[in-house]
Amino acid sequence: MTPAFPNLEVVDHPLVQHKLTYLRRMETSTAGFRRLVKEIAQMLAYEVTRDLPTEPMRITTPITAFDSPVISGKKQCIVSILRAGNGMLDGMLELLPAARVGHVGLYRDPDTLEPVEYYFKVPEDIAERMVIVVDPMLATGNSAVAAITRLKEIGVTTIRFVCLLAAPEGVKNLLDHHPDVLVTTAALDEKLNDHGYIVPGLGDAGDRIFGTK
Ligand code: URA
Repeated sequence: MTPAFPNLEVVDHPLVQHKLTYLRRMETSTAGFRRLVKEIAQMLAYEVTRDLPTEPMRITTPITAFDSPVISGKKQCIVSILRAGNGMLDGMLELLPAARVGHVGLYRDPDTLEPVEYYFKVPEDIAERMVIVVDPMLATGNSAVAAITRLKEIGVTTIRFVCLLAAPEGVKNLLDHHPDVLVTTAALDEKLNDHGYIVPGLGDAGDRIFGTK
């Protein structure tokens, strides 16, 4: 947890930081970028699931019978904020292969600048599940705030947010609106620039994942 934001966890593991450096480089190819997003997402999934509840299961080893822990409760639901969030799904599902998946699509109204929902599809019983919302870039935080508000409206109570990079402005916005949400990121960057990009950042995550620019 960082002192400025008690609900923010920055995963400073050397493997994560090494991969993040290559992810940021502008020379990194589309294929390389995609692979690195997947690998980092997988490691962030490991961190964000650290406090999952477990229960004992009676097993027999070749030596003896004993009670050993297994994860208890319903499977988690990963909610991707379209479209860049989809780049993190494969990595998250590598560690949580039975997780359910939801999608939220938002665009910014050019007049009001408010996020407007154009797509929302989640499991019917999502309120009974721990939800991990994924979006590579926590920039202004407006999309994350809107997506989490929407999830709470349908009864979700346990929410984690996972991103690759976060700007202080986005973390503040998210935690001001949703102080109960734990945020996990690979790095807390310096600031947003005038165009809403994270500095030093990595550019447009969606374009780099999907090769659209
Ligand atoms: N979204 C991105 O893809 N990159 C940024 O730097 C900010 C928002």
